[in-house]
Amino acid sequence: MKLPKFLANVALDRRSDCEPKQFMTDHSFIPFHRPSLGKEESEAVQRVLDSGWLTTGPVTIEFEKQFAAYVGCKHALALNSGTAALQLALDCIGLRPGDEVLVPTYTFTATAEVVTYFGGRPVLCDSVAGGFNIDPADAERRITDRTRAIIPVHVAGEACEMDALHELARRRNLRVIEDAAHSLPTQYRGRRVGTLSDLTAFSLYATKTITTGEGGVLTTNDDRFAERAALMRLHGIGRDAWNRYSSEGSWFYQVTEAGYKLNLCDILSALGAAQLKKCDAFWKRRCEIADLYRERLQGVEELEMPPLPGPGSTHAWHLFILRLRPEMLDIDRKQMIEELKKAGIGTSVHFIPLHRHPYYRDHYGCTPEDFPNAEDAYSRCLSLPVYPDLKDAEAERVISAVTQIVSRSRKSKLVSL
Ligand SMILES: Cc1ncc(COP(=O)(O)O)c(C=O)c1O
Repeated sequence: MKLPKFLANVALDRRSDCEPKQFMTDHSFIPFHRPSLGKEESEAVQRVLDSGWLTTGPVTIEFEKQFAAYVGCKHALALNSGTAALQLALDCIGLRPGDEVLVPTYTFTATAEVVTYFGGRPVLCDSVAGGFNIDPADAERRITDRTRAIIPVHVAGEACEMDALHELARRRNLRVIEDAAHSLPTQYRGRRVGTLSDLTAFSLYATKTITTGEGGVLTTNDDRFAERAALMRLHGIGRDAWNRYSSEGSWFYQVTEAGYKLNLCDILSALGAAQLKKCDAFWKRRCEIADLYRERLQGVEELEMPPLPGPGSTHAWHLFILRLRPEMLDIDRKQMIEELKKAGIGTSVHFIPLHRHPYYRDHYGCTPEDFPNAEDAYSRCLSLPVYPDLKDAEAERVISAVTQIVSRSRKSKLVSL
């Protein structure tokens, strides 16, 4: 059977040097991201299409078991986005209107927007000095008697200071929900992210370390949270609601809560399971590229390398975020992006902090002065391509373009002329 058009768009033509069709028009351009999909994914999806059961079913249940085993947690629930996983996590802790949740300003809007779904207030917090992740001390300063939870984000795949955050949460009676959109398979002090806190939300979005195009997973070791999440992800009609059309199922069901529609279908779970099998190999390749970038760029004075994980911890290298030293350069970050683009290299910026977006600025009265570390990181950061299908020659091209642009833009060089 031929793949439907929407799947054919993401399927890769493996004969053409692993490049997806949408990037094949310009061979010299190195895109910021390329998904790594092979025949294992196509075949797994095809099997589901042939099976006659398309929505959440046995393949999703199997994917959840494999995900839980990989991460080392008790429960994993496959969902239709990382945002859905965050939303369900807040539902599990019973967030109420007027409750406050501490979130980093240095993140994607999904981390904070979910708080507003419940009538809660996201309270933005600054990053650690010289880094990207939430600063536990700054978060503590923003706690009020309405604060219920904290959502740390492991930006780029670098684990947050989880010991300090857990200690803060214990002392101030807060729930911890980790936003692990970037951090499969990050380890913190010998344990995988996904096992450390009350609830953890992973994203399987198109650019993430493994992908289903759109998707997410919620993990927890708490049976009650898992039961609540399973109920609420499918309209509040019980754990086995998906099963009612199968030969073992029953036509009878009862709605016990006003739930949501956040389940992942078997077509995408098949994709997820095939990707999960490759997660270690993907990670190894990301580490090789990150090592190469570090080795070759760390001697360039005008650049700052991303922070490295502490002892016993690992970095997922979902992103490789450089910081420029603008005082040493006569171009700024925006010009650097333009120059790299001219050299055929796609880059990105992670993140435009939330306090800079009109919604957060206007609703919560945030100003840049409240977030000096996030401002510093934002003004100088630049994400380079890092993904398993990036070839060595392409990584070398990225390195040489960056070094050439820096060397012709050095302030000291101009002064000495
Ligand atoms: C830090 C962070 N949190 C949450 C999300 C939301 O994930 P999804 O797009 O799967 O809903 C993203 C997505 O890019 C993200 O980067």
